[in-house]
Amino acid sequence: MTSAELPAPYGAGAGSTPAPAADAPAGATPAGRVRIHHLQQAKDQGTRFAMLTAYDQYAAQVFDEAGIEVLLVGDSAANNVLGHATTLPITLDEMILFSRAVSRAASRALVVADLPFGSYEVSPEQAVESSVRLLKEGLVHAVKMEGGAAYADTVRALVRAGIPVMAHVGFTPQSEHALGGYRVQGRGEASQRIVDDAVALADAGAFCVLMEMVPAATADAVDAAVRVPTIGIGAGPGTTGQVLVWQDMAGLRGGRQARFVKQYAEVRTVLADAARAYADDVRAGTFPGPEHTF
Ligand code: KIV
Repeated sequence: MTSAELPAPYGAGAGSTPAPAADAPAGATPAGRVRIHHLQQAKDQGTRFAMLTAYDQYAAQVFDEAGIEVLLVGDSAANNVLGHATTLPITLDEMILFSRAVSRAASRALVVADLPFGSYEVSPEQAVESSVRLLKEGLVHAVKMEGGAAYADTVRALVRAGIPVMAHVGFTPQSEHALGGYRVQGRGEASQRIVDDAVALADAGAFCVLMEMVPAATADAVDAAVRVPTIGIGAGPGTTGQVLVWQDMAGLRGGRQARFVKQYAEVRTVLADAARAYADDVRAGTFPGPEHTF
């Protein structure tokens, strides 16, 4: 990418800031909207970017202001917001609702939404129809799709429709039952299949390949085999970007964490302490005080 992005010629909506997004200098992300070519620049220049999931307005705002380059409206909203045991039950309508909240709150990050289970597998046409809804109603900038080389035609159809696609290979949670549960994929001889999947999807036009729970050596082989940036979750340090589910990263979710999670805060403890202090005040009659009373 050689030329800087121009101001939107037809206006950019009531809440838009006038400054156009400049192309990022080496090692930095742009001041304006992060675009898919900025992620490619990161790969080309050997720099890295961060991605977090977000499902609501405040998390999206906080992460956007913190400089997270990519926000993923993951179908992990099923487990992390809606209380399901897996990602499978979440619907396209539910994904659109979460996507809309995140997209409206994020002024800088690239917002990517998952195509949920059942919304793309039947045909490339079905995938285009579902993705159009995610962009048109959910206001996201790109979609993420689970699956290997068998979905290359679907990626081609989406790209033809002007929809950027992030491919998701390795452990694909929507196939949990077919894969026999949460298991590292691409060990030993199976490594080549992950590489082949990634190459087929990148060749079909995916702008990025995300890998979940694969050995670092497999992720490195994928990263070497594709020109596009790679993103890892449980895929070692060799990818262009990393992603975590935000409730894991910030310590909101209780219970055992996956090996690949690093917890950066204790939000669950902070919230529980705040809730207990509030309840103590209410029971003691010290809240509301005069300063909270009309
Ligand atoms: O839905 C999600 O949160 C994901 C990440 C685990 C990559 O797909």
